[in-house]
Amino acid sequence: MTVVGPEAPLGLGIVDSFRAHNLKIFGPSQNAARIETSKSFAKDLCTQFHIPTPRWKMFTSESEAIGALDGFGPPWVVKADGLAAGKGTTVTRNKREAEAAIHRELQREPGRIVLEEFIDGWEATFMATVSKGQVQWLTPVFQDYKPLSDGDAGPNTGGMGCFTPIPTVTPSLVEKVRGSILSPVVAAMEKVGVHYQGVLNLNAIVRRGSEEPFMLEFNARFGDPEGQGAVMLVEKGLASHLSSVAEDLDVAEPPQCRQGVCVVVVLASKGYPASPTTGDKIMIRPVPDENVTFLHAGTSKNSSGELVTAGGRVLNVVATGDSVERARKAAYSTIKSSVQFKGMQYRTDIGAHRARRRELAS
Ligand code: GLY
Repeated sequence: MTVVGPEAPLGLGIVDSFRAHNLKIFGPSQNAARIETSKSFAKDLCTQFHIPTPRWKMFTSESEAIGALDGFGPPWVVKADGLAAGKGTTVTRNKREAEAAIHRELQREPGRIVLEEFIDGWEATFMATVSKGQVQWLTPVFQDYKPLSDGDAGPNTGGMGCFTPIPTVTPSLVEKVRGSILSPVVAAMEKVGVHYQGVLNLNAIVRRGSEEPFMLEFNARFGDPEGQGAVMLVEKGLASHLSSVAEDLDVAEPPQCRQGVCVVVVLASKGYPASPTTGDKIMIRPVPDENVTFLHAGTSKNSSGELVTAGGRVLNVVATGDSVERARKAAYSTIKSSVQFKGMQYRTDIGAHRARRRELAS
């Protein structure tokens, strides 16, 4: 069985090709992956089926979008319509910056740009498996850290780390997210003839001082790095669960998770996210703590067989424990003792804030 990690092959139709060759694969079809590959497809569905999402509009030209800014902010939320490796959203109080974001994203994908209402709240990632048209398993809920640097400074990245549990996530909020967003969007896709199968990853915002969740974005795959944290919390049943979902079966038993505390710190290469350098030698010493695991992402071997950097986000340091504070300490002391490469970048505040509010670029 193949489990598809990144969105690009899903968008190119890898699942359809594998199925056409009778190869078992976990993930949505190209058509269903539009829930991630086209923001306007996802937002249209939400609008049409009354699924809570911030007010939005898609524009086809720079002048139209710039002309509409005053109707949306400040603050402004500017989003690329298509895939942008998690870096396509700008949230800012600065109108010039909003205009620059419109210009930049339209260069990347001409003719499609989305403006969205700003909601003051905190974000969380809800990951669900979907099989036979039903939400089957909701993993532990994580909070992701998108900006590059401590204190949410610097440019947006695909995600520099995450942690669970978020103290403000209650069982009633999780049920609300399932009942008002996840299950309705799967049903909405069925109604428009799109059958969804795989993981549906929801980046939600919960309005400050309320338990009112809104859909910000969907991913057609596990969140990165939230997926790395979720799988480390599973005690058993993951492979059989993914196998049932890949076959679109009714899934009676979701995987069993230990009561979950997890902190994931991403180690990124020099120059990430603008221009990551590759080929830097990575030194890894034995990890002294059994609660800490290194998961490889952008790594490779050079012609001499040495481990080298091969992408922006190089390694994930995943720590579990009985409290976020202890897991944090374990992750950071292991980074100091056990891993090094030239220009290595990481945030030192993953898990240090509980339920951070959405921050503004300026
Ligand atoms: N962490 C968000 C994403 O996977 O894009």
